[in-house]
Amino acid sequence: MGGNEQPVLAPERQAEIDEIVAAAQRAASAFRGLDQEAVDRIVLAMVKAGILAAADLALLALEETRFGVVEDKMVKNYVATEFLWDYLKDKRSVGVIEEDAERNIVYVADPIGVVLAVTPITNPTSTVLFKAIVAAKTRNAIVFRPSPYAVRCAERVAEVLRAAGEREGLPPGAIQVIPDAAREVTHYLFRHPGIDFIWTTGGPKIVKLASQSGKPGISVGPGNAPIYLHRTADIGGAVVDILISKTFDASVICPAEQTCVVDGEIYDAVVAEFGRMGAQLLTEEQIAQLSEYSFGGGDDKVRLEAVGLSAPELARRAGFEVDPATKVLLAPLPADLGALGRHPLIREKLMPVLGLVRAASEQHAIEVCELVTEHGGLGHTSAIYAADDDVIDRYARALRTGRILVNAPTAVGALGGVYNSLTPTLSLGCGTWGGSSTTDNVNYRNLLNIKTVSRRRTPPQWFRVPSSTYFNAGALDNLRDVGTEVAVIVTDEATEERGAVDEIRKRLRAKQVRVFSEVTPEPDQEIVRRGLDLLKRTRPDLVVAVGGGSVLDAAKAMRLFYEHPDADFDDLALPFLDARKRVANYPQAPHSARLIAVPTTAGTGSEVSPAAVITVGDRKATLVDYSLVPDTAIVDPLLSMSMPPAVTADTGIDALTHALEATVSIFSSPYSQAFSTQAAALIFQALPRAYDDGGDLEARTMMTNAATLAGLAFSNAFVGVNHALAHAVGARFGLPHGRANGIFLPHVLRYNTAVPTKFMPAPGYSSYVAPAKYAQLGRVIFGGREEEEARGRLFAAVDDLLARLHMPRTLKDAGIAEEEFLGSLSQVTMAAFTDLSIRTNPRMPLLNEVTQLLRAGYYGAP
Ligand SMILES: NC(=O)c1ccc[n+]([C@@H]2O[C@H](COP(=O)([O-])OP(=O)(O)OC[C@H]3O[C@@H](n4cnc5c(N)ncnc54)[C@H](O)[C@@H]3O)[C@@H](O)[C@H]2O)c1
Ligand SMILES: [Fe+2]
Repeated sequence: MGGNEQPVLAPERQAEIDEIVAAAQRAASAFRGLDQEAVDRIVLAMVKAGILAAADLALLALEETRFGVVEDKMVKNYVATEFLWDYLKDKRSVGVIEEDAERNIVYVADPIGVVLAVTPITNPTSTVLFKAIVAAKTRNAIVFRPSPYAVRCAERVAEVLRAAGEREGLPPGAIQVIPDAAREVTHYLFRHPGIDFIWTTGGPKIVKLASQSGKPGISVGPGNAPIYLHRTADIGGAVVDILISKTFDASVICPAEQTCVVDGEIYDAVVAEFGRMGAQLLTEEQIAQLSEYSFGGGDDKVRLEAVGLSAPELARRAGFEVDPATKVLLAPLPADLGALGRHPLIREKLMPVLGLVRAASEQHAIEVCELVTEHGGLGHTSAIYAADDDVIDRYARALRTGRILVNAPTAVGALGGVYNSLTPTLSLGCGTWGGSSTTDNVNYRNLLNIKTVSRRRTPPQWFRVPSSTYFNAGALDNLRDVGTEVAVIVTDEATEERGAVDEIRKRLRAKQVRVFSEVTPEPDQEIVRRGLDLLKRTRPDLVVAVGGGSVLDAAKAMRLFYEHPDADFDDLALPFLDARKRVANYPQAPHSARLIAVPTTAGTGSEVSPAAVITVGDRKATLVDYSLVPDTAIVDPLLSMSMPPAVTADTGIDALTHALEATVSIFSSPYSQAFSTQAAALIFQALPRAYDDGGDLEARTMMTNAATLAGLAFSNAFVGVNHALAHAVGARFGLPHGRANGIFLPHVLRYNTAVPTKFMPAPGYSSYVAPAKYAQLGRVIFGGREEEEARGRLFAAVDDLLARLHMPRTLKDAGIAEEEFLGSLSQVTMAAFTDLSIRTNPRMPLLNEVTQLLRAGYYGAP
């Protein structure tokens, strides 16, 4: 697999490994039974034992690996115990670890099982301490496969932690070490079915092998950290930081500084300061000797004997002498990117050798740093010293490293907790650039299977209405109390001719009143634009819209674009699935012009609704947002008396459709239902009377109120597939809105009553209640004991009413030619299917069902 043939392991050795893994599995299953307190007791005991052993383990590390600095090894052991404990002590890692009450989500932690940990030569005791303690915190068993050069270190740490942990209940077998260095053992383990997760810290080869194993895991590889000293850096501070860090454990630590890129302006000062603080600038010849000694093996690898020496000792072995107090060897490297890329010292130098590059510009400096990371340091660590936030920003965006430290040493800094608040770790994720699945400072969360328990959440609803509604005959008189300087009346020609504009003018106490009377039925964007021009010229503080739904809708759109000239129609008309998550962003600033809506039809409810339907080509676009709701509605039945019977019927049936669709909508609520029920009851009583006798003021009053009540219901519950069909058909064939609604109404009632092919996902609508809601409404208005009976009465009443009003019952009767209908059927189907109204229908209309409903609308029979 992966190009390497699989080495074979002797059967006896295989059995031994199997037994180790089996013991780990037993430990893992015992671990699952422990609670948070028990786990934390074990972890604390292990931490204490690690702290007590920190110095001895540091000595052992030095003895076995022969490199590094014992004092610093001890610091690493403290990071892996004391710092780790400080971070872990109040973290929950068992059972429910986090609750998000607001979102009704609970996070539950499960252990992984058996973790195979590969540990490096560079941090031979601290990494084992760290991984073993993190494994215990997460209730995982851990099996170590240490670097072959650091086996005793791993075994000793395991002994210490096991003894302390088991005294507090750590399951036996939870911490084990497989000392075997043989390649075949590693291969065998990487594919062992008992191993659940591989956590690798090591060189590129082992990282790659771990990734190829096919098991989940986290692998972290080597670093090659560049540091940029910008001209705004505090030179004295930076030099000390870099020396602290570069000498830390003789640089045997992957995040250590490797190449220092210095702005030309401060280069000489930086070199001088380095010299003063104990760094030695190397000559060309010394650099060549050093390169040859450290990397001259020919196989692209660092010579192990060169790693982790003190600066004077390293120099001596390379063939030259430096002052015995020298802390770091400074190696000036070429500034030319090509030459630098070929230089052996561009690589990770696990020794107190720091490359030095003079930068010609900020851009050049950043490019040099990027080049350094590309030589084995991608994903790991980088740093910048600067006082200029812009350059820090540019640097952070350019460098592909998981950690970018600002004004802090990398070696100790990246481990977290000393110079910053990074998570303490000895496992630094290198991101995909470095072959890791994460850029995290890996810690306990990475060793958990965190389950999300998400409880059902019914989002809160709303009931929003205009600030005031005036109704009944004479309501128009309320205009006398409206304070205004400049008013624009929006209307259509016919309404103006009927004298409605004069009635309004008479009552308005404005200094200036202008009239826009060019609205036509089913208004389009051009009409809106023309009205907008007048508003822009007049700059009114009040817009009074008087007319049918067409006028009111046009006025809503005009005010919106008058107040917000930058708003984009297409953006605002963007379709959406859930009003609360929609992309469109309506301006919510308080209105600079009030909008008073005065309906002259009794139908659309537009006077109270958040919607404005605007024709765009041969379709209808709906602008909808509560910011569109008129500030005041004046519902005066006297204005509706002039409606001829056909308009009375069309608009009245529109209102009935609003009430019936709001009744069963997925957003229907007790609030909306109070209004839709009352609206429907009034319409069944009054519509035939208003139709027969336009002068019947009582019937007109009931109808205008019913239309507004239905408007209040659907403004909050919205409509359904009936309106989607009516919008599509109305726009395509130029049918009056209410008439189109009436044609589909009987079919939609039956469609919603049948068992849905597909339910509409709706959190507030737990069972399919549409049929029951129709029945409930039927019972309130027409009585009936059984559900079916009550619903039957409602449906029959709808049929009777449509017949009584002489409404066309089919699109055919409405005058649409069959070829025209069939020729556009697929287009109209899509228009209805993508209409906003369909989203709140209780039954989810499938495309073919929409077509069937359209056919039913045309031919009459389903
Ligand atoms: N905004 C909403 O919430 C909403 C809801 C439903 C429908 N609509 C839209 O409303 C429009 C339909 O509105 P509508 O049904 O009120 O029709 P309408 O405004 O298009 O008016 C229809 C016709 O009747 C005339 N008319 C209006 N009042 C009259 C009166 N009192 N006497 C004599 N004639 C009168 C008009 O001049 C027009 O010619 C459509 O564009 C529809 O999409 C909007
Ligand atoms: Fe409507």
